[in-house]
Amino acid sequence: MRGQWKADELLVQTIGGPKPAGSPYVWKWSAVHPLLLEACNVLPESFTARRHLGFMNPGLERGGATHTIRMGLQMVRPGEIAWAHRHTIAALRFVVAGSKQAYTVVDGEVCPMENYDLILTPQWSWHDHHNKSGENIIWLDVLDASLIAALNATFYEPYGEKRQQAKRSGEGDYVPEQAGARQPPLRYPWSETEKLLQKMAHLEGSAYDGLSLEYVNPMTGGPALPTLGCWVQMLRPGESTQAHRHISSAVYFVVRGEGETVVGDERLEWNRHDSFAVPNWSWHRHINRSKTDAAILFSVNDTPVFQALGLYREEPENSLQQAAAPLTPTPLGRK
Ligand SMILES: [Fe+2]
Ligand SMILES: [Fe+2]
Repeated sequence: MRGQWKADELLVQTIGGPKPAGSPYVWKWSAVHPLLLEACNVLPESFTARRHLGFMNPGLERGGATHTIRMGLQMVRPGEIAWAHRHTIAALRFVVAGSKQAYTVVDGEVCPMENYDLILTPQWSWHDHHNKSGENIIWLDVLDASLIAALNATFYEPYGEKRQQAKRSGEGDYVPEQAGARQPPLRYPWSETEKLLQKMAHLEGSAYDGLSLEYVNPMTGGPALPTLGCWVQMLRPGESTQAHRHISSAVYFVVRGEGETVVGDERLEWNRHDSFAVPNWSWHRHINRSKTDAAILFSVNDTPVFQALGLYREEPENSLQQAAAPLTPTPLGRK
């Protein structure tokens, strides 16, 4: 037993909110890519394991990119298969170096992996990865693994064979209209995403995120996965956003462009294909350094978890905490 007066001391420290979990951090593509190639010597074939280099936030004892999200880069060499398995951890892939001849099978549905496609492997869905191209295929893995571990709810099951029965119906592809979708999407092709971004590039967007779009599940209007929200945002040439903070954490991947994200006192400088983490409840703003070219960032956040629990908060800087009231929790039966 413990006297509650002891715990009260800890509680007083959270007046104004928690300390951000983990550190702001950048994983440079120029540092990670050579290591990924080197990993081929350590793990000659991918098989049941994945040739994945997981990012370790130096401010988190248990690793991971943020306190809830794990992220890393994975490579599958020509001819390889990463064997089928499933787990209660939800995951997604954002393709960095893809091909028409590379694909992930998710619950039987063949999802081609072309550059910057987003492919979801929802919790407990069978998935195996195949590279039938002549080049190394690389993608970003993002998982809710740290959250699921904290809940002690991790289950894992190998399929028992290398590959599952596969079909290419196209039914896993994102369809913008609700009426056209017969199942939640498993794949959001970049060709569609980029088209939408360019179409909306002239809109004002958000003061904190520039032109930002969420990958939604068109059947619910909700996030792509119950635990992970996926965003793509464009910072127009020279655009510099205002600072805010929110109780959700996020990981970013630079699709193109160069700039910096200022998180608290830290300046995270980023270039094409770099990844970075913004811990929760830390002030941050984004700057596109180029005066001529747009910067595009893909990001994944744990916002859906906080919204589902009625814990979501967001605060603009210099607001004298007037805006600290939580937003309305997401209703269960959303549109
Ligand atoms: Fe997996
Ligand atoms: Fe933000």
